[in-house]
Amino acid sequence: TKGAAMVTAVASRVQAQRKQIDEVLALFRLTREQLVDVQGKMRAELEYGLNKKSHALATVKMLPTYVYGMPDGTEKGKYLALDLGGTNFRVLLVKIRSGRRSVRMYNKIFAIPLEIMQGTGEELFDHIVQCIADFLEYMGLKGAQLPLGFTFSFPCRQTNIDKGTLIEWTKGFKATDCEGEDVVDMLREAIKRRNEFDLDIVAIVNDTVGTMMTCAHEDPNCEIGLIAGTGSNMCYMEEMRNIELVEGDEGKMCINTEWGGFGDNGCIDDIRTQYDKEVDEGSLNPGKQRYEKMTSGMYLGEIVRQILIDLTKHGLLFRGQISERLRTRGIFETKFLSQIESDRLALLQVRRILQQLGLDSTCEDSIVVKEVCGAVSRRAAQLCGAGLAAVVEKRRQDQGLEHLKITVGVDGTLYKLHPHFSRVLQETVKELAPQCDVMFILSEDGSGKGAALITAVAKRLQQSPRE
Ligand code: GLC
Repeated sequence: TKGAAMVTAVASRVQAQRKQIDEVLALFRLTREQLVDVQGKMRAELEYGLNKKSHALATVKMLPTYVYGMPDGTEKGKYLALDLGGTNFRVLLVKIRSGRRSVRMYNKIFAIPLEIMQGTGEELFDHIVQCIADFLEYMGLKGAQLPLGFTFSFPCRQTNIDKGTLIEWTKGFKATDCEGEDVVDMLREAIKRRNEFDLDIVAIVNDTVGTMMTCAHEDPNCEIGLIAGTGSNMCYMEEMRNIELVEGDEGKMCINTEWGGFGDNGCIDDIRTQYDKEVDEGSLNPGKQRYEKMTSGMYLGEIVRQILIDLTKHGLLFRGQISERLRTRGIFETKFLSQIESDRLALLQVRRILQQLGLDSTCEDSIVVKEVCGAVSRRAAQLCGAGLAAVVEKRRQDQGLEHLKITVGVDGTLYKLHPHFSRVLQETVKELAPQCDVMFILSEDGSGKGAALITAVAKRLQQSPRE
């Protein structure tokens, strides 16, 4: 009959649509072989960056940090810390008490308006100093001369613990006249311009390093710091003899890998999708930080958005209507992705979240959106796991061990807020590095506490230099 024919027609259309959606999702499913391949390539890039001859061209920069020593529990004192480059800008006062390994912190969050993030370097640093002034005033510390640790979460070429030349901005920053400049000098000059207080800037620290140090304060086995947040990066303790850029063969130094740049030479283009390319092209730094753009909070929502636009164009979502909201960059923040993927959330609530985002969805739409989010974040966690597996295996082999026990200190909104990211990441590491026993500990405010600990260690070493 006519009715039955219509039902069949509708059913086959639904089937065809489902097939199209599945095809898109399949692009994000990585096989074990592909992950092993990523691990191998990451391993090669790590070596490439450590090597004197290839270092300049390496996409994984492997930057020496001049952090040699781990905290030994004797650190103490009051420190100021700055934290620039994550979700928020903060100024902190950190009080470390020796012996009991206890730390007290007071902090204030300040907004950095977009026009300052992307204005001139002078404006940015003047703003930072303004925030420090507010904080000192607020804490009743005006005129105090405290040692300061500056967590600056961008790639810096260091020649000392208190010298760091910004190589290039990443994530959402793009202030002019900073690249190629010493960031500590820029901060010192801004303090001078204000001419209101003096600060002793002792250390410039990447957030990964602060995170590792914070966790090492409690667990001496912690020799890796991982950030899975707005950006994606990792640092670890490397044998001095393997760091060809720095004199000396004894002991270890922390290396800031800047692994976000992995793939910038095209080596993982085989797994990048058209959506990854669109996100890259629409970003502040096209062609750069390709791995970061597949694995971190600032970009995952953008990948999701590109997929949703494409599905909508093909009439597979939102009744084929691309709304103004859907065209808006940055609408899917990590917290929304995390909410949408929460297992306890009923579809109705997914619809409500989408509605909050200005997206009018049917029940079928919200199922698809949830699947898309799942595919994108799962791939991110697996890729991040493959990278980590490369590092722990390197450490195991370098030490000639049958088995390696190592701890990773982790921070970042994606790792902490997302309902599945951390689990998938850990499973992937276990699968790809079965001879390593990797423990993960969450860092409590690594960027602040870590900067203070590093400042304390650096102060101690200033007084009695490294033997
Ligand atoms: C970006 C920065 C890196 C930082 C990471 C996490 O990748 O380049 O320095 O550690 O974000 O914040």
